[in-house]
Amino acid sequence: MSMWGGRFEQASAGEFRAFNDSLKFDYVLAPFDIQASKAWVNALTEQQLLTNDEQEILQSGLDRLLQRVQKDPRAPLSSNEEDIHSWVESELQKLIGSTARKLHTGRSRNDLVATDLRLWSLAKTHTIGEHLLAAIDALLAFAERYEEAVMPGYTHLQRAQPVLVSHWALAYVEMLERDLERLTQARERLSQSPLGCGALAGSGIAVERHEIAAELGFNGPCRNSLDAVSDRDFVIELLATASLSMVHLSRLSEDIVFYCSGEAGLFLLGDAISSGSSLMPQKKNPDVFELIRGKTGRVAGHLQAMLMTVKGLPLAYNKDMQEDKEGYFDGLAQWQQCLAIMAYALPHLRVDTQVAQHAAELGYSNATDLADYLVGQGIPFRDSHELSGKLVLIAIQQGVPLEALTLADMQQVSSRINEDVYAALALMSGMNRRSALGGTAPAKVHSALRRARQRSQAH
Ligand code: ARG
Repeated sequence: MSMWGGRFEQASAGEFRAFNDSLKFDYVLAPFDIQASKAWVNALTEQQLLTNDEQEILQSGLDRLLQRVQKDPRAPLSSNEEDIHSWVESELQKLIGSTARKLHTGRSRNDLVATDLRLWSLAKTHTIGEHLLAAIDALLAFAERYEEAVMPGYTHLQRAQPVLVSHWALAYVEMLERDLERLTQARERLSQSPLGCGALAGSGIAVERHEIAAELGFNGPCRNSLDAVSDRDFVIELLATASLSMVHLSRLSEDIVFYCSGEAGLFLLGDAISSGSSLMPQKKNPDVFELIRGKTGRVAGHLQAMLMTVKGLPLAYNKDMQEDKEGYFDGLAQWQQCLAIMAYALPHLRVDTQVAQHAAELGYSNATDLADYLVGQGIPFRDSHELSGKLVLIAIQQGVPLEALTLADMQQVSSRINEDVYAALALMSGMNRRSALGGTAPAKVHSALRRARQRSQAH
């Protein structure tokens, strides 16, 4: 059923239709198009443009169509309809006859598609919020499992200072919590109803837009009709939120890939989440985490595409806007899938606590503790940094860790060093000293973990 045949003398060309039609990818909007249509039927009835009988017929037809759509969510390959809006109308007409021809009174596909896409976004962001929480929970469980384990912390990918494995996991919890916050805020902003804004200038029917918005579960109506039909900020905002969250998942993945490498060997991959090599029998590859890292580029690409699509568009609706869908749907689907597999994979990841602890002890990562010890002996930090560096050099030349230097060796560099330096150089004493808020001292991490658990349970 074409929605615009009257002023045309010839049918549109197949080549044009194949290029122009969007049903194959906007069919996922079907439940939302039906939901919006149901609210519109009520609004038209209130304005006495439909009788109660017609309202009843339309509502039950739309309900039947919704059931059918929910049963089979695959796009109908055989349909010749232009888009989801004409498809719903034509299917409705097949079901209930000519009463369906009254449905489009006073509305436009422009306010309708904007409404559908926002309704889809409300539902999708709810689901993704749950997946974010599940990924956060999986990180928390990992942190709890390895609360006391020690590993090297890195800067420049050089061993820097030891940290707790749980402290490392909690860093990613922070990032995902911010993602959830961004998602929630974007959701609030998009929760406005464009329905009743017509093609661009407002509906010619004095529908109660507050009521329509409330019926559809929006916080309220969009205030300006030109903006309502042409605004795709919410698509961009959610793709930006998705991209940033993917960047977080990607950094987490990169850490895991490196920790599982033969060179580091701090973490071990479970068989269930790894693949082998068709040629090299010894291999066990971190495919899950590499794929997450890889898909990050894809999602960020969708964000760029959408920004460029909207960049030069005049008000109000332009057909360019049909390009808002495929990248958006895919970007959010990839994000959701990556969150889900991350939550699935983390329980299959083990820390080799002995290797991790040994690695934390190597690489002179207690040199800062030695400098801090000298500060405690009354030496200004700049000087103690220098002295500690000299001792590191001596230890490197002897091929031993700092704590293996004799007291005599140490006292040659600074006479202020006493026997108690060895206690200060011990791994755990350094860890315990990082006790300012946010540090890796076990007592601090313990309460940080407890508070993060409480936050996640409060959702
Ligand atoms: N398929 C179109 C889209 O996704 C629906 C809106 C069409 N509006 C129009 N004036 N042609 O953007």
